[in-house]
Amino acid sequence: MTPEERFDALIGEDLKIEPRDPMPDAYRATMIRQIAQHAHSEVIGMQPEGNWITRAPSLKRKAILIAKVQDEAGHGLYLYSAAETLGVSRAELVDLLHEGRQKYSSIFNYPTLTWADIGAIGWLVDGAAITNQVMLTRTSYGPYSRAMIRICKEESFHQRQGYEIMRVLSEGTDAQRAMAQDALDRWWWPSLMMFGPPDAESTHTVQSMAWKIKLETNDQLRQRFIDATVPQAEYLGLKVPDPDLAWNTETGHYDVGPIDWDEFWSVVKGDGPCNKERSAHKVGVWEEHAWVREAAAAHAAKARTAAASA
Ligand code: 3HC
Repeated sequence: MTPEERFDALIGEDLKIEPRDPMPDAYRATMIRQIAQHAHSEVIGMQPEGNWITRAPSLKRKAILIAKVQDEAGHGLYLYSAAETLGVSRAELVDLLHEGRQKYSSIFNYPTLTWADIGAIGWLVDGAAITNQVMLTRTSYGPYSRAMIRICKEESFHQRQGYEIMRVLSEGTDAQRAMAQDALDRWWWPSLMMFGPPDAESTHTVQSMAWKIKLETNDQLRQRFIDATVPQAEYLGLKVPDPDLAWNTETGHYDVGPIDWDEFWSVVKGDGPCNKERSAHKVGVWEEHAWVREAAAAHAAKARTAAASA
């Protein structure tokens, strides 16, 4: 069996591709691109939520938010480790992000203006992330699929804590209900955009589905998220900001109005409300805290020397 035949056989039989298996260069490049973009998203995603740690409305909310933000850092680490099995180092990937040669999710370029935004992020952003990532637990690259299983468990908790914040606000005073509605108004459309461009405009979907990296398309996952989330908004007594939203009895799905894809591409290309702030903060913190990495590396080297001479 040639290496190509072995790769095709593994994909054909729904078996996982493991790091030492033969794989086409383009499969490896696609996996590195997607996993790195995903890892960067987890790390940059800590910024909009970290913004509210000092202002969380109670000690309990603060403790939960700190734990959640810390979880996102952990997700970044699992994902960088999964990417490293493909022959790149975390340092290289971080450099590519800092140089603007790799991306992170569009969603993290929007500001968190009120406490309700923390609820909306958990409910909608983590909800959209899970919809996509449950599929990725079955993706063809073994280390990525295994990282996804653990990440999805934690994301489910994040989604529930966000929904619970929204529930408390929507059952609160008029001002709290208005704050929850305002957050839904601002986060609804960017959350739908998270799934990526419509299938007809998606560069990678056809090939990624042939390789079983993606098992469902951007539009299929977006629709699943809409169908699950609209009844949740209704339960909260909040209004989804889409005048065209309607249940379609024939398809058994919600129809939605047009998504502003110009806004999406503008955010992806760097012109969203917070792109520059997010990137500058990330690079600044990386440089300012170089001493932490150096100290950790020195400590590890010392421990290795001590272990070798023991
Ligand atoms: N933000 C930024 N860029 C996006 C994007 C988004 N939301 N959606 C798509 N794009 C980019 C793609 O990277 C691609 O760019 P390129 O051609 O320059 O490489 C281009 O738009 C065309 O999109 P495709 O549909 O062809 O791209 P993919 O096949 O890669 O599909 C995806 C896009 C569905 C996002 C897929 O990459 C994926 O499933 N990624 C893994 C999940 C992920 O990264 N999630 C990010 C959120 S993580 C998160 O939210 C953390 C949580 O804690 C909240």
